[in-house]
Amino acid sequence: MRYDFDTIIDRSRTDSVKWNVKDGELPMWVADMDFMAAPEMLEAIEKRMAHGVFGYANIGNEWYNAYTGWWKSRHGFEMDQDWLMFCTGVIPAISSMIRKLTEPGDYVVVQTPVYNVFFNCIVNNGCRILENPLSYKDRAYFMDFEDLERKLAEPQTKLMLLCNPQNPAGRIWDRDSLERIGKLAVKHHVYVISDEIHCDITEPGKGYIPFASVSPDCRDISITCISPTKTFNIAGLHTAAVCVPEPSLRRRVRNALNTGEVSEPNSFAVTAAVAAFNKGGDWLDELREYIAENKRIAADYIAARIPGVFIVEGDATYLLWIDVGCLGSDSKEIAGFIRETTGLFVSAGGYYGKAGNHFLRMNIACPKEVCLDGLSRLKTGIALYREHIGSGFS
Ligand SMILES: Cc1ncc(COP(=O)(O)O)c(C=O)c1O
Repeated sequence: MRYDFDTIIDRSRTDSVKWNVKDGELPMWVADMDFMAAPEMLEAIEKRMAHGVFGYANIGNEWYNAYTGWWKSRHGFEMDQDWLMFCTGVIPAISSMIRKLTEPGDYVVVQTPVYNVFFNCIVNNGCRILENPLSYKDRAYFMDFEDLERKLAEPQTKLMLLCNPQNPAGRIWDRDSLERIGKLAVKHHVYVISDEIHCDITEPGKGYIPFASVSPDCRDISITCISPTKTFNIAGLHTAAVCVPEPSLRRRVRNALNTGEVSEPNSFAVTAAVAAFNKGGDWLDELREYIAENKRIAADYIAARIPGVFIVEGDATYLLWIDVGCLGSDSKEIAGFIRETTGLFVSAGGYYGKAGNHFLRMNIACPKEVCLDGLSRLKTGIALYREHIGSGFS
């Protein structure tokens, strides 16, 4: 490998949200990676820093070209430059759009289990959550279209928040499912915000399908949120984009981003995004291999040493969605117990909606040695929990 993903970098005392833990604890929760950014990106950021003047920044042509070039070459989707708008983050953009595209009390449909911050965006901006639970069969998730149509048909439903690929289970949505969402959304006059922040970290050889690329229906009712921040581990640089092909909807979204004051870049936001998409391809491909290897290690470890527990199928993200249903359905208690007894900090599945109650989410975007430490703590924590509840497994 050309790039180093094995070195353990001490992130304690760096004001990291993830690493704000007690000594000896191992955080494998929030979705950021324990890897340094690609050297090509560090070089570009250092060059920008050396300039030494950090006044208000503009969005230049190279930013648009970097996004359109990446989506064309990586995802086979030709975006027009005019469709793109800079924003400081996916969540700030979603919150601003909910405020502008709904009336207080309207419904926003989400497919649970899903990224928990979606719930805050909806409720904190005056709307109500309408859940379209995913069906869980044979260790994989599928959409329930009958229920989805009922929810989209509610007169107060104005938006659907789609997570494509899906966090927490890492499901890459297929063309047929996306097309059906587009048809139903058009039929019931609902806009779809497709959050595609996890689109680049997929199993080597597998890609995702941009929602807006699927059909004219999908294109015209879509607002797509994209960003280099998950892919290249630069969440702290606050740089993202919103893509809206349909001009009148775009006008409303632009207004939302401006009013929400989330449309202006910091001095590194453009440099970092441009370097990522123009120069980060090789690094990303090696990262995907590394994560796939960590996933294989985790799957083998859990299958061999943690009876009754298993990982849900998913070809995207560096997050493991672990079914711990054999321990009961109080994921918050299970995660709390594991943290208390072993120091391993994983996310309780219940945060992602009721449907997540018998799952844990574990972030394995870390050096292999750390991943193995996490798995060993998971094994110990689960064994102790079994003793604690008096379950039959050993
Ligand atoms: C699905 C999803 N959307 C958005 C975000 C956060 O995006 P941002 O940092 O750009 O607000 C995350 C972070 O984990 C996420 O998983």
